[in-house]
Amino acid sequence: MASSANGLFAQMEAIRQSSLRHNAALGVHAVLISQSGWFIHWVEGPGDAVRALLARVRNDPRHHSQRVLHHSRGVRFVPTTWSMVLSPSTESAADFGARVLDLRYMMEQGRQFAPTSVIRRLTAPMRLAMAQDRDDPEAYHRVGVCSAGANEAFDLVRWLAQRHDTVVHARRYAGETDMDSATDYVDFMEAGEPCRMIAISRPSLQHGMRRAFLPDWPWLLLLFVGDARRDGALMDRIRDAFANLPFTPALLGVAPDAATHERMAAMAQAADLRYESLGVMSPAESPAVWQVLRLHLAQAGTPPSSVWAVPEPFLAG
Ligand SMILES: Cc1cc2nc3c(=O)[nH]c(=O)nc-3n(C[C@H](O)[C@H](O)[C@H](O)COP(=O)(O)O)c2cc1C
Repeated sequence: MASSANGLFAQMEAIRQSSLRHNAALGVHAVLISQSGWFIHWVEGPGDAVRALLARVRNDPRHHSQRVLHHSRGVRFVPTTWSMVLSPSTESAADFGARVLDLRYMMEQGRQFAPTSVIRRLTAPMRLAMAQDRDDPEAYHRVGVCSAGANEAFDLVRWLAQRHDTVVHARRYAGETDMDSATDYVDFMEAGEPCRMIAISRPSLQHGMRRAFLPDWPWLLLLFVGDARRDGALMDRIRDAFANLPFTPALLGVAPDAATHERMAAMAQAADLRYESLGVMSPAESPAVWQVLRLHLAQAGTPPSSVWAVPEPFLAG
């Protein structure tokens, strides 16, 4: 927990300066999220370096009550040495803290979740009642959507929320370099499976934390507008965002004409990315876009689990 809510941005800025001094040399990649009076620190790197860093951070008076909520060895998911997010959520520290304690308890009982899943459970939990009944409430379809044009991706999420008579969850993050890391998402049931559709802004594709979540998405829906410059610019951003990630989503394209699909498929192939055309339609036609996407989801089957094995030392004796 943060020791003081005063000057949180200045505190994070000071932590950022220290981290830029140390992390790269240690081979450490880190993400720091501040939400509801808590810090979430996602650290990857050589075991000794990570242990030494966490010991140093544990004694930092800017926070207290450090809890480890995930521990594993494996490939890197975090592509940059530092990125941070200051979330404007108004949820109380106590409500957020209840989820921290819950995750810690589950870990001690031998149940832990993928790092991305831990962060989602803390910062943006799935609240659909029908997902809660399941053994793994994190096993839901996740589809990211990004537009080459204006607001088409955010409009699609808003349209889906209206259709399901539910709310859009808006996230406006202060990123590490004042980038507009906007994300809106909506949760709903589709053919008996929980789904989350996440609209992301183009600039947020450069954000280390956003990129670290991309391996978790089986698909990224791209809404092309038929303007070679804008569509090509989005593809360039996607290629850069996917660099150095262990897995990357398959690209699902919607475009207003067949020539755009051909151009985008060629760019994807040149960058070694999977591209599938979902059809020719206006990216602004949310009902038509959703219709082709839901057919795609119907073929995808059940969403995968987010449960990972817990290493011995973390199990409650
Ligand atoms: C929640 C939290 C996360 C931090 N993350 C890092 C980090 O990833 N890397 C780092 O070097 N320092 C991090 N710090 C700061 C360290 O605790 C420590 O102040 C700093 O590394 C000291 O280095 P300096 O004396 O060169 O500034 C973090 C502090 C807090 C409170």
